[in-house]
Amino acid sequence: MSKIAVVFWSGTGNTEAMAQAVAEGATAKGAEVDLIQASDFSADSVAAYDAIAFGCPAMGDEELEADEFQPMWDAVTPELNGKTIALFGSYDWGTGEWMDTWKDDAEGTGASVVETVIANNEPDDEAVSACNDLGASLA
Ligand SMILES: Cc1cc2nc3c(=O)[nH]c(=O)nc-3n(C[C@H](O)[C@H](O)[C@H](O)COP(=O)(O)O)c2cc1C
Repeated sequence: MSKIAVVFWSGTGNTEAMAQAVAEGATAKGAEVDLIQASDFSADSVAAYDAIAFGCPAMGDEELEADEFQPMWDAVTPELNGKTIALFGSYDWGTGEWMDTWKDDAEGTGASVVETVIANNEPDDEAVSACNDLGASLA
C-alpha cells in the first residue's frame, strides 16, 4: 500500500476542499493518506511518504502563502529530489501564474511533478474531479 501525504495551506477553505478531494482520490485507489496542515509538515517527514501532494492558493502577488506555506516549502525542497509530487491550489483574479512559477521551482528540486490542478475560487465539480484524479495518480 502506498503512503501519501496531502500537505496544504488554506485561508478561506477553497484549497482545503481541494485537499480533501485529493485525499479521497488517493484513498479510493487504496493508498494510506495523511491530510496535513503546512505548519505541521517538515523536512523530516518527507521520507515517510511514497508521494506528496502540496496545496497552496495564489497569495501575495502570484506567490505562495508567505507565513506558513513558503517556509515549510523552503525547508522540504532539499528532500524532494527523486520524489513523486503533485501541486494544487485555488486562485481568484489571476491567470494561474503562481502555479507555473511553483511548478518550475518544484521541478528544479529534482522532484517528478506528475500533475498540477488549479481551481478558480471554490472548486466546482470539474475541479473536484480533477483533484480526485490527481490523488489517484499518486496512489
Ligand atoms: C492576500 C491575498 C493575496 C492574493 N493574491 C492572489 C493572486 O496574486 N492571484 C490570484 O489569482 N488570487 C489571489 N488571491 C485570491 C486567493 O488565491 C483566492 O481567494 C483563493 O480561493 C484562496 O484560497 P483558500 O480559500 O484556500 O485560502 C489572493 C488572496 C489574498 C487574501
